[in-house]
Amino acid sequence: MTVRPDSINRWALSVAPMMDWTDRHCRYFLRQVSKRVRLYTEMITAPALMHGDVARHLDFDPAEHPVALQLGGSDPAELARAAHLGEQWGYDEVNLNCGCPSERVQTGSFGACLMADPALVAACVKAMRDAVAVPVTVKHRIGLDHDERYAFVRDFVGTVAEAGCGVFIVHARNAVLRGLSPKENREIPPLRYEVVARLKRDFPELTIVINGGFTRWDAIEKELGVVDGVMLGRVAYHDPYFLAEADRRIFGDAAPVPTRAAIARSLADYARREARRGTPLRAITRHALGLYHATPGGRHFRRILSDAAKLAGGDATLIDEALRAVEHTAGEADDARERTDSVA
Ligand SMILES: Cc1cc2nc3c(=O)[nH]c(=O)nc-3n(C[C@H](O)[C@H](O)[C@H](O)COP(=O)(O)O)c2cc1C
Repeated sequence: MTVRPDSINRWALSVAPMMDWTDRHCRYFLRQVSKRVRLYTEMITAPALMHGDVARHLDFDPAEHPVALQLGGSDPAELARAAHLGEQWGYDEVNLNCGCPSERVQTGSFGACLMADPALVAACVKAMRDAVAVPVTVKHRIGLDHDERYAFVRDFVGTVAEAGCGVFIVHARNAVLRGLSPKENREIPPLRYEVVARLKRDFPELTIVINGGFTRWDAIEKELGVVDGVMLGRVAYHDPYFLAEADRRIFGDAAPVPTRAAIARSLADYARREARRGTPLRAITRHALGLYHATPGGRHFRRILSDAAKLAGGDATLIDEALRAVEHTAGEADDARERTDSVA
C-alpha cells in the first residue's frame, strides 16, 4: 500500500528506538537505505541529559531527519527540560518511553511501569508539550503483567491524549514487570494486534502506530489499512536492506532503490569523515554487518567487518575490502549458476 501524497503521514513507517543499537551511526547507515522512514534514538534518560554530556547524547547528522528523540523519565519538570534540549538540538519529535520493562528502568520509575500511573504520564506529556513545539509522542505496551483487560490500555491512551498527546506507538504485547528479562519481554507475551486496531477504532482522531513482530511487507501493508503507521524494530537491524523498499512501497517515491554496494560505499565515506573526528571504525561497521543478510557472500562481508585486528587499524578501506569480497563471491555464484544452466 502506498500512502497517498495528500495523506502523507509522518508516522507511516519508522524504525524503533533500540538501546545500544540505534545510535547516531546506526541511524546514518539506515538513512542510506531509506530516505523516508522515521528514525528514533535509543532511549536517553532525562537525568542523563541533566547531568551528563549533552552533546554526546544528542549530536546527530543532519542527514538523519526525520529523527525523533526518545526520553526516559517520570519527573515532569526534568522531562520538560530534556524535551526542550532535544528541540533545540533539532529533533523532529520527542517521544516518552512507557514501554521498556527493564528492572533497571523500573527502579528509576520510568518505562512500562509508568502505564500504571496514567495521570503521571499525562502530567509529563503536558509539561513536555508546554516546553516544545515539536510533537510529543508516547510509546507504550497494551497492558502490564497478566492483566489483559482492554479498558486498561484504553483508559491510559484516553488520559494521556487529554494531556495533548496525539501520537501513540503501541508495542502490541503486555510488559511483564517481574520475572521476564527485557529480551523475553519482546518474545514471550503474545502479540495482540487486535487491541491496537480497537484503539484506532475508539480514538479515530489519534495517530496510532503499531509495533511488534513485523518482518514482511504484506503484513505491514495490511496494518496500514487498519492503523496509521508501523514501527519496525529488530528486522531493521538484522536485515537493514529490508528498508530499501520502503520509500517506493510506502511513500510512493519514484527514485530507484539504492543497491547494497552503493549503501556500503556511502558508509565508507562516512567512516572516513568520522575517523577524522576520532570515531572508531567498529562503532560504525557493527551496524552494517547485516547489509548482505541472506545473500551470497553475506558471511564474508560480516566476517571481514568483524575482524578485530583489521578494525583496530581504523582504516575505512576495510569496508571496500568487504565489498570486493562480497562481489567476488556473488560473481562465483553467478558462474556456478551459468555452469549448471548449461549442463541442464
Ligand atoms: C536491543 C533492543 C533495545 C531496545 N531498546 C528500546 C528502547 O530504548 N526504547 C524502547 O521504547 N524500546 C526499546 N526496544 C523495543 C523496540 O523499540 C520494539 O518495541 C521491540 O523490539 C518490538 O519490535 P520488533 O518486534 O519489530 O523488534 C528495544 C528492542 C531491542 C531489540
